[in-house]
Amino acid sequence: MNTRDCILAIDQGTTSSRAIAFDTQGGVITVAQREFNQIYPHNGWVEHDAETLWTTTRATSREAVDCARRRGYRPVSVGITNQRETTVVWDRRTGEPIYNAIVWQDRRTARWCSELKQAGHEAAIAARTGLLLDPYFSATELAWVLENVSGARRKARAGELAFGTVDTWLLWRLTGGRVHATDATNACRTMLFNIHDQCWDDDLLALFDIPESLLPHVRDSADDFGWSTPDIFGEPLPIESMIGDQHAAIVGQTCFAPGMVKSTYGTGCFALMNTGDTAVRSDNRLITTLAYRIDGKPTYALEGSIFVAGAAIQWLRDGLGLIEHAAESEGLARKLSSNEGVYLIPAFTGLGAPYWDPNARGALFGLTRDTNAGHLARAALESVAYQTHDLISAMSADAGQPVESLRVDGGMVINDWLVQILADIISTPVERPAITETTAIGAAYLAGLQHGIWPSLESLTEQWQLERRFEPAMPEAQRETAIAGWRDAVPRLLGSHC
Ligand code: G3P
Repeated sequence: MNTRDCILAIDQGTTSSRAIAFDTQGGVITVAQREFNQIYPHNGWVEHDAETLWTTTRATSREAVDCARRRGYRPVSVGITNQRETTVVWDRRTGEPIYNAIVWQDRRTARWCSELKQAGHEAAIAARTGLLLDPYFSATELAWVLENVSGARRKARAGELAFGTVDTWLLWRLTGGRVHATDATNACRTMLFNIHDQCWDDDLLALFDIPESLLPHVRDSADDFGWSTPDIFGEPLPIESMIGDQHAAIVGQTCFAPGMVKSTYGTGCFALMNTGDTAVRSDNRLITTLAYRIDGKPTYALEGSIFVAGAAIQWLRDGLGLIEHAAESEGLARKLSSNEGVYLIPAFTGLGAPYWDPNARGALFGLTRDTNAGHLARAALESVAYQTHDLISAMSADAGQPVESLRVDGGMVINDWLVQILADIISTPVERPAITETTAIGAAYLAGLQHGIWPSLESLTEQWQLERRFEPAMPEAQRETAIAGWRDAVPRLLGSHC
């Protein structure tokens, strides 16, 4: 290993494309980032321009690689991590997308999902994929494209189209259309992949009427995914890992032992518990997913998915104009000694785990004449803690043991007030690592593993360093009152659209 070698991690997320160069000690050399527009064509629909996902990725990647080179580093490997489930369909010959990327937050297939549920399909889908029937996952969105884009179904049958989640789409472009592949963690979010047999499931392909020719080859999360074309980085580079962002965070947080839990606070919040080689079935409306797959061996996880976490703070900023910068929410929330009965349920795109109501919409409860910006900021931040509490309670019940500590990461966790209220509400110590670029470093670790920079997954454990541990400090009676208010508010929303 050369100490001037570096790894490029591409982190294509819901609101921005980022590229980070890491040295062989796991240190950050440089970060490049571009935000892009969200497209909301109708109520509940969320799309991205797939071409923009690619151009912002290419630009940030080149920027990071050039900067690393100027500092004397030599890029030797590329890893990709990405927003999961988002669906892209393109023409194999031209490489052009036939429709915008349909984002994981999109609810356009909610009615179809509830019809499938009523027809009794959910149990079989859960048994094979570990997932629940919800528009969140790719299958119904992919079927929607085939049904609604002119000529798509015919072209799909003729083998002229390719489907991919964002990892696959970027790989296709990086390799000049030579490689159509994904990794097992991304495949398992499509609702078409059998997590026990580790292959596309014929019965599910038939149920959703998806021709198999559309689908990418499924590989390990650390694998040889092909080489980039020379124009992108000035020389070909090997792409040696692909992994969905929440799974990458499990690797970045080195949660390798069964029972370890991490939670990432980006647009949404996603808590994953490593369950080792057992695919634990949830009795509490969590989903069973892959943590990662290495050397053909799947490691499983239980996952709780919340659709809105950081997005609630974005709403305070962009929707309400209440703050100019996300960081101001902390100061506003600190001014109050309690929430004074004000709760925000941020179901802007439905509710995820453990409620799974795609038609629910957001609501504020407990407003009075003296409700002010501080209450709203506090309610938005607290909603993240209550939602995490819902997930951790469900996880402990499924695992049959309490969660001992929670490792957190993502943009929101720089907010000390939020992390403390999180520890208070879940009544569990919360650990914040020194490196919070956890998602990107997870992809870099796997690329480095494949490249021979690190000898084994286990050897990465010593890379993780604690920055600060937040101990629960809220008096129990106060905690119970706060949680009771949330529990009272949520059911008022569920089914309110019927
Ligand atoms: O499942 C959706 C998730 O992967 C999105 O992550 O970080 O873009 O909010 P993020």
